[in-house]
Amino acid sequence: MIIILNFGSQSAHLIARRVRDLGAKAEILSFDTPTPEILKSRPAGIILSGGPASVFKKNSPRPDKKIFTLGIPILGICYGHQVMAHMLGGKVTKGKHREFGKEVLKIKSQSGVFQSFSQKEIVWFSHGDQVTRLPSGFKATASTVGCKYAAFSNSKRNFFGIQFHPEVTHTQHGRKLLEDFLFSICKAKKNEKNGSVTETIIADVKNEVGNEHVVVGISGGVDSLVAATLIHRAIGNHLHAVFVDTGLLRKGEVKQVSSYLRKHGFKKLHVIDARQFFLKRLRGITDPEEKRKIIGHSFIEVFEKAIKNELKKHAVTYLAQGTIFPDRIESASTSKTAVKIKSHHNLTLPKKMGFKILEPIKDLYKDEVRRVGLTLGLPRELLWRHPFPGPGLAVRIIGEITEERLQILREADAVFTKELKKAGEYEKIWQAFAALLPVKVVGVMGDGRSYEYIIALRAVDSVDGMSADWHKIPNKLLEKISSAIIGKVRGVNRVLYDITQKPPATIEYE
Ligand code: XMP
Repeated sequence: MIIILNFGSQSAHLIARRVRDLGAKAEILSFDTPTPEILKSRPAGIILSGGPASVFKKNSPRPDKKIFTLGIPILGICYGHQVMAHMLGGKVTKGKHREFGKEVLKIKSQSGVFQSFSQKEIVWFSHGDQVTRLPSGFKATASTVGCKYAAFSNSKRNFFGIQFHPEVTHTQHGRKLLEDFLFSICKAKKNEKNGSVTETIIADVKNEVGNEHVVVGISGGVDSLVAATLIHRAIGNHLHAVFVDTGLLRKGEVKQVSSYLRKHGFKKLHVIDARQFFLKRLRGITDPEEKRKIIGHSFIEVFEKAIKNELKKHAVTYLAQGTIFPDRIESASTSKTAVKIKSHHNLTLPKKMGFKILEPIKDLYKDEVRRVGLTLGLPRELLWRHPFPGPGLAVRIIGEITEERLQILREADAVFTKELKKAGEYEKIWQAFAALLPVKVVGVMGDGRSYEYIIALRAVDSVDGMSADWHKIPNKLLEKISSAIIGKVRGVNRVLYDITQKPPATIEYE
């Protein structure tokens, strides 16, 4: 068992996921779990996760200091690295800026957690503070240009601190680092994996649902598509799928997803054309929060009406949702993140009807969802689409939503995506999209003067959407994209590239 002390939820969950993937058992405990409690799991190693806090802040999270006396190997990651240095007598200095992104790490000692590393490695940073003096008995094991003690160790005690994140895929050999920590340093035991995830989920759904009927909402996105396909494999046409076309989805998405499902045997798929209904509700609305609320309520209204229609024909017992693991992590669900919109717990009808909730992919991360999708035979083109917010294009048009603006944005976004895919850049990016700025600006086209909208392009690298760095699209490609948008999309005469990190900006515009 590897214990992960949680100093900031997303990071800890991702580490646990990697540890389990590598074949060791992992348990996440709160950062302040008392040592006797930790020892109950008989851990082979302890990982201190990253987190958003700063060791300088009053009441910032600290582990029980006795964990440093147990003789158990400890790996501190990011905040975990800083808190370990701080508590063992080293010094952490407050950073002026947060540093995000890939860095070259120079390894001083190819041993310990770096035993499989080359002398130079690409790693992912996301930090403000840094360690500036080591505790006694520790030595520096790696550095970057801006960070002298990017890693340290005390090989006698098997304590390791790393400022970067091995759990994210941007760190090239992060998996290897974790594997060496688990099996070479902690001597954790490898579990045998049994049965494929896909088969297990299908069997579980069959078991749970039996002969009952299930209704599922198709959002157009990857998660609900995979969830619905799994359930369909399990119970066939006892699954009733409702796909609300809000008019706020990406170009061609409704057709692409619905024809795929129909072609693959979904007999009870109801696509509800609610485009005009949403446009009408959104007319004259410019405030972002009001837009979100209206879209949420309108969606519920349309969806519930569709369910009521189904209920006239069949007794439905379950409401299925494409909730995935990160949606369930509490801190990620504050304000406007995924879970609020995806979760239909707030639908009133299911509650009134006493529906049971079915969430077949609730334990999976996005990349696992995609892998399961592949084993189900879903096309890569559908599975590798970037994340898309519940309120859709409405939060990518600043100000009022009109049919004309939606049309312009859909086209511009489609051209952007197509060029990224053609250049092989799309899958390197976490999320990319176009946004429409509703100001008109002057340009020249041919011999004439134009007066049209601005399109902003956003492309970001991220792990979980909580923080993000702007993606460095090669200049030549940017130029090509800009020309393609101006050339192909009527109503736009200027293209801007957004180079703001999150924080301070958000990924979406509203
Ligand atoms: P922000 O704009 O908050 O976005 O930096 C972070 C991530 O969350 C997505 N997002 C949403 N997803 N419903 C969703 O399902 C929403 O209302 C919503 N708002 C933002 C956004 O696309 C990004 O990936």
